[in-house]
Amino acid sequence: MPVIAVIGAQWGDEGKGKVVDLLAEKARVVVRFSGGDNAGHTVVNPYGEFRLHLIPCGIFYPQVVCIIGNGVVINPEVLIGEVDQLNQRGVDTTRLFISDRAHLIMPYHILLDGLEEESRGGKALGTTRKGIGPAFADKTARLGIRVGDLLDKEVLLERLRFILEYKNVILTKIYGVSPLSLDEIYSQYCQYGERLAPYIRETTIMLEEALHRNELVILEGAQGTLLDLDFGTYPYTTSSSPLAGGGCLGAGLGPTGISRILGVFKAYCTRVGSGPMPTELKDETGDLIRERAHEYGTTTGRPRRCGWFDAVAARFSTRINGFTGAAITRLDVLDILPRLKICVGYKLDGKTIDYFPGNVATLERCQPIYEELPGWQVPISHIRQYGELPIEAQQYVARLEELTSCPVNIISVGAERGQTIHKMPIF
Ligand code: GDP
Ligand code: IMO
Ligand code: MG
Repeated sequence: MPVIAVIGAQWGDEGKGKVVDLLAEKARVVVRFSGGDNAGHTVVNPYGEFRLHLIPCGIFYPQVVCIIGNGVVINPEVLIGEVDQLNQRGVDTTRLFISDRAHLIMPYHILLDGLEEESRGGKALGTTRKGIGPAFADKTARLGIRVGDLLDKEVLLERLRFILEYKNVILTKIYGVSPLSLDEIYSQYCQYGERLAPYIRETTIMLEEALHRNELVILEGAQGTLLDLDFGTYPYTTSSSPLAGGGCLGAGLGPTGISRILGVFKAYCTRVGSGPMPTELKDETGDLIRERAHEYGTTTGRPRRCGWFDAVAARFSTRINGFTGAAITRLDVLDILPRLKICVGYKLDGKTIDYFPGNVATLERCQPIYEELPGWQVPISHIRQYGELPIEAQQYVARLEELTSCPVNIISVGAERGQTIHKMPIF
């Protein structure tokens, strides 16, 4: 049965939250499979406006089981805060489950994220400072503590004692800061364990059961393809895989299980944090887009860098994810612009290239080659049928489809659930 992966196709914040909230109406399970609370997914629905960092955006439907998969790193304090906030606003969270294999973000991860960033000086990555990189590094180094470890206090103590001794050497000897207290962290995480115990499960079994029953499962991506650890603008990336392939590993599902892969693209580009972005607009058009669209980070509040749609990057993203279709979001933001540009190639050292280079030094030298299209300059947020969009808007979408070789299923013309045009069925 259908498993659909909803994947950020650019540098994050494409509107994955809106798309998952929309599609989850027909789903039985929604799984977050990567990242951590560096993600900020905005949902605007009849319950109000929400910014979810860890809880899957399917939580608003009573029939949807929401899973935080093994591929996510979890800050328990943030998760408990999110559960409490949702409950206070009338949203039921009893259908939330957490993989016992997911790793925990520990206080030293957050501390080290900040210290590492400061030590990078002018080469800082611009991380969210939520401890994401250090937590994934520990996972790979086999120095992580997992959600399941919270269920056995003796195991937790033994593991924490061993790891903290090592972390405190780094904190005191390398960074010259005070060591962290074993007792404090242990008692805090024991409390988290008691609070989270009812949610902790072997979640791959739940997924398998849903598939056997032929129910719709959504894999909810976090971040974006160009922030992927392997394929993003390394080292200006995050530390996990936001790709469709990451969905298999981070949820516990074989690659043959995924039947549709929906790439979520903004109608233009944004990026928050450091690293190359060939189509960035450091001018009044960039400022206009930022202010009109309120392009400020959902997690950190930082201004997002804005620029034209980059079809070279989009083609790359389509290729490495295997998108079967696309959702184009925020098309309405472009309403006011008289002319629109799409990057169709790069100029690199005097030559034209049509691929996305693998290293940042090369990408930084790439100058975008633009194609210009007329804008529509009328409001479109009220439109629900593709044929009713102004012809210029239809031409813009058709050109994106052509350049990326990816059919468009959904066009979003506003933040609310209903502000959506279903151009072509996903199934
Ligand atoms: P995510 O991280 O991919 O879920 O995206 P974010 O929530 O960080 O950022 C997307 C922003 O765009 C949010 O503020 C959404 O409410 C908003 N949004 C989503 N789709 C649309 C749209 O079609 N039009 C407008 N104007 N806003 C949108
Ligand atoms: P959603 O899911 C946009 C960026 C950070 C930084 C880089 C590394 O809302 O799309 P990290 O804290 O992950 O080590 O930071 O990645 N970043 C995001 N940018 N949206 C996100 O998530 C992001 N998650 C991380 O700004 O440049
Ligand atoms: Mg976001």
